[in-house]
Amino acid sequence: MLLFSLIILLTSVCHVQAKAVFAHFMLWNSNNFTKEDWRLDITEAKIAHIDGFALNTGFSLENQHLLDDAFAIADELDFKLFLSLDYSGDGHWPTDQVMKYLKEYTKKPAYYKTSDNKPLVSTFEGAQAAGDWQKIKDKIDCAFIPEWSNLRPARSIAYEQVDGLMSWTAWPNGTEDMDTSVDKEYMDALDGKPYIMPVSPWFYTNLERFHKNWVWQGDDLWYTRWQQVLELSPEYVEILTWNDYGESHYIGPIHGDDLDVFNYGQAPFNYAENMPHDGWRKLLPYVIDLYKNGGKDAKIEEEGLISWYRVNPAHACASGKTTGNTLTQNQQTLPAGEVLKDRIFFSALLESSADISVTIGGKDRAASWINTPDGGKGIYHGSIPINNQTGDVVVTLTRDNDFLAEIKGNEITTKCVNNMTNWNAWVGNATSTGPKPASSSSSSKQDSSSTRLVLSGSIYGLISWVVFFLML
Ligand SMILES: *[C@@H]1O[C@H](CO)[C@@H](O)[C@H](O)[C@H]1NC(C)=O
Ligand SMILES: *[C@@H]1O[C@H](CO)[C@@H](O)[C@H](O)[C@H]1NC(C)=O
Ligand SMILES: *[C@@H]1O[C@H](CO)[C@@H](O)[C@H](O)[C@H]1NC(C)=O
Ligand SMILES: *[C@@H]1O[C@H](CO)[C@@H](O)[C@H](O)[C@H]1NC(C)=O
Ligand SMILES: *[C@@H]1O[C@H](CO)[C@@H](O)[C@H](O)[C@H]1NC(C)=O
Repeated sequence: MLLFSLIILLTSVCHVQAKAVFAHFMLWNSNNFTKEDWRLDITEAKIAHIDGFALNTGFSLENQHLLDDAFAIADELDFKLFLSLDYSGDGHWPTDQVMKYLKEYTKKPAYYKTSDNKPLVSTFEGAQAAGDWQKIKDKIDCAFIPEWSNLRPARSIAYEQVDGLMSWTAWPNGTEDMDTSVDKEYMDALDGKPYIMPVSPWFYTNLERFHKNWVWQGDDLWYTRWQQVLELSPEYVEILTWNDYGESHYIGPIHGDDLDVFNYGQAPFNYAENMPHDGWRKLLPYVIDLYKNGGKDAKIEEEGLISWYRVNPAHACASGKTTGNTLTQNQQTLPAGEVLKDRIFFSALLESSADISVTIGGKDRAASWINTPDGGKGIYHGSIPINNQTGDVVVTLTRDNDFLAEIKGNEITTKCVNNMTNWNAWVGNATSTGPKPASSSSSSKQDSSSTRLVLSGSIYGLISWVVFFLML
């Protein structure tokens, strides 16, 4: 029996190792990182059950010691890293530079290896350099999984040097709901080869220097997209991103001395200031474990609540000429305020159902869940319209009138920094301090409902009912 359990355990552990979750990490935004900063960020990523960072860099990286520090600390903390070569920022990576970097870093112990023990190498764009990879792979044996969004997946996979593909389609078109059609196109073309599925919570960028000024849909996306991960069960997931402050989709901590992107990029104002996104990591340990377990079950370490919203209603101030969608990607544009809704979003991780309430400026607002998990355990999600209300936001979680958790969020205001609507989100989180839900053995109320559940599924239900009636 023990041996049998051990075999089951071992096979499930092996299965778990095949899947991994990465976060895209912009080295450019960590130029001032000390070893302590690496330690902090890697520790936070590990708490969130993230396996590694995809280190994005162009070929003209000035501080190569950054990479040395990162690999040293990752090794110390048992975390993984791999390179994501950016062909967009500095342009085409010279082949000799690619080989130099790969030769040096893929041999580091903290470099991420695929299940067939090859170092994973990814890109941001660079389809025009497809022809370089024959030569590179002749010298360095690696699993090459590029993100070549301007080629159809079927065209990309036709290159024999390609071992898998990543997509960058993490946001939907305009007001459309996010769906998995692009992911499915990739997975079909890959026919079993590894797919890196992108997951992102938000998108707002306004950087004049780079002629970038648009939003894509965030809102419910952090909830929706993880449900899609569970549904498709890809080999890999990459969170976009850990620290891209200039596009507002960071989920890592904000480092005050690494926000040069707002000066250098000529942003009209620093739209990440006072906009922490740490709360977006809070439900990750559960949802990542669930994804790795094939969606079957995962342990809830602690019940908790997260909430996010924009602090300026869409019409409060000037739009800053920010559009929904972007002409730079041949999209049809629409007002930013049509793509991002004036709503307060909330998700909770719960052992069983609980009640949600929201006040804005002290006024109670009717709130309830829109999405609830099958069986009652898991992630709950919902939102309420802001309706031009202003003031402090308080989101509270209770169960049978017992207090569980509360978020006191930043106020919603029509006073905007630089008189421009900030299209970035404020994110908060709270851990439940309330009683754990009664288990089926300690609460009579729970007892009857769990008895009913069992009845629907198995012979034990029948026996329970017989016993139940005998007891009556
Ligand atoms: C995006 O949505 C618009 C309508 O909002 C539609 O006209 C357009 O065809 C869509 N584009 C794509 C690529 O689906
Ligand atoms: C790093 O710090 C220096 C000195 O304070 C600053 O000039 C630079 O902009 C910072 N880099 C980033 C990426 O923020
Ligand atoms: C701020 O923007 C509003 C709306 O666009 C405008 O009416 C107002 O004059 C602006 N105020 C300042 C100080 O620029
Ligand atoms: C909010 O106010 C703006 C302008 O003051 C108005 O156009 C809009 O309809 C209002 N929205 C709601 C939901 O009341
Ligand atoms: C999220 O919770 C952690 C502690 O669990 C806290 O340090 C952090 O400030 C919280 N973030 C926000 C934005 O509320």
